[in-house]
Amino acid sequence: MRLTRAKISLLLKEMPLDQEVLVKGWVRTKRGSKNVAFIALNDGSTIHNLQIVADPNTIGEETLKKVTSGACIAVKGKLAASQGHGQKIELPADEIEILGEADPETYPLQPKKHSFEFLREIAHLRPRTSTFGAIYRIRHAMTFAIHQFFNERGFYNVHTPIITASDAEGAGEMFQVTTLDLNQPPRNEEGEIDFKQDFFAKPTNLTVSGQLEGELAAMGLGEIYTFGPTFRAENSNTSRHLAEFWMVEPEMAFYELKDNMDLAESFLKYLVQYALDHCADDLEFLNNRALDEEKNKKKEEKSEMTLLERLNFIVSNDFARVTYTEAINVLRNSKPNKKKKFQYLIEDWGADLQSEHERFLVEKHFKRPVILYNYPKSIKAFYMRQNDGEEPGKETVAAMDVLFPGIGEIIGGSQREERHDRLIARMEEADIPQEEMWWYLDTRKFGTTPHSGFGLGFERLLLFVTGMGNIRDVIPFPRTPENAEF
Ligand code: 4AD
Ligand code: MG
Repeated sequence: MRLTRAKISLLLKEMPLDQEVLVKGWVRTKRGSKNVAFIALNDGSTIHNLQIVADPNTIGEETLKKVTSGACIAVKGKLAASQGHGQKIELPADEIEILGEADPETYPLQPKKHSFEFLREIAHLRPRTSTFGAIYRIRHAMTFAIHQFFNERGFYNVHTPIITASDAEGAGEMFQVTTLDLNQPPRNEEGEIDFKQDFFAKPTNLTVSGQLEGELAAMGLGEIYTFGPTFRAENSNTSRHLAEFWMVEPEMAFYELKDNMDLAESFLKYLVQYALDHCADDLEFLNNRALDEEKNKKKEEKSEMTLLERLNFIVSNDFARVTYTEAINVLRNSKPNKKKKFQYLIEDWGADLQSEHERFLVEKHFKRPVILYNYPKSIKAFYMRQNDGEEPGKETVAAMDVLFPGIGEIIGGSQREERHDRLIARMEEADIPQEEMWWYLDTRKFGTTPHSGFGLGFERLLLFVTGMGNIRDVIPFPRTPENAEF
């Protein structure tokens, strides 16, 4: 009878002692003596390794020599209770097959702690480390939970385009998409590049957001969400920015700003709770890893809570809801503002908030997640709904940003301007070409209604849930300025 491969996660859970099993995976470490070798085997199904016990007399010296860190092997044997500490079961090997050797002289992943910077350079191999295995499993779990959350609530997943001809969103610099020969682009009579000859017969870019098309779908389907890659060519080389990142964008007909805030808060709590419920082993590993790192930090840099405490705190506390105007007053009177510790001092109403201000509000002042709303019209996008009855010069829009500890902005959203005349006026003010946006404007001409939505930066969520410090470490193959390897 041919044995089918069992996943290590299943064996550790069900512990079918004395049964013959076949496992396959990558060797993490091998230690032991002349008489016996202990092999830590991992197959990616769990953070935990299965201990393989190999007797050179049974397996053969030649084969055992090839069992080195990074090698891929198949092992047959009968599962036994473990005599050693650290594991309940182990697998005494009857047979080991070497599926793929890994030359110890050149295999870059040694069984020791590597820096994240180094692991980024070998991003093709980092899925084989405990930390990145945990992160990618959590990334998967969060993807699944996002679809589940919306499906449970009757939201439809809509696939919005990746290539777009509109640049109206203004959320960031765009990457151009073209099939023109850049060495010899065709030119028109005025000597300008003739995009009529380009693939789409007009200039096109990679999208910065699926929102505008999401709105079209919501104005017929009711409640929808998009979950796709978005692209921003900003040269912001920070630990919070990627040039290619994934965004979740729900859009809901009949929702006003408060409904939008309620949804955003319950969405984030649901996702964090899902991670606590379904990723316990991986989170425990990351929690301990972070505690280890804390030991090397200076006192003022140490976190007040552990990763697990932070996650539990989020699900069990209400987010603070604060208007922009209240926040400006808090910031203006704050210690770092008075002592000129902020890089950008807050003086006047209307100032855009920097991440230092967002983090002060969340981490020092309110000590919980904050939803900031009703921002000045001048610093927000054209599509946000203009609030009525405000004094000239202090006009606001029904925008909301959710700010998280250690992260800053994790969600940005708003109620949308559904009134055709007000939208047109705002577009004129902001110099947004209306011809290009005829389809967007049509939704305000035909059967318009109040609606709202927001965008969650998926990698920012993962930063929070995994406790990692750099956004390059929560996406398998990060795209950042001057980096598109792999
Ligand atoms: O605030 P943003 O720019 O909002 C929008 O794009 C709206 N169209 C969303 C909507 O209302 N449907 O981006 C939304 C979120 C931010 O809050 C942040 O979490 C994340 O996307 N984000 C980035 N994440 C990684 N790298 C970047 N360069 C990011 N820029 C924004
Ligand atoms: Mg934003």
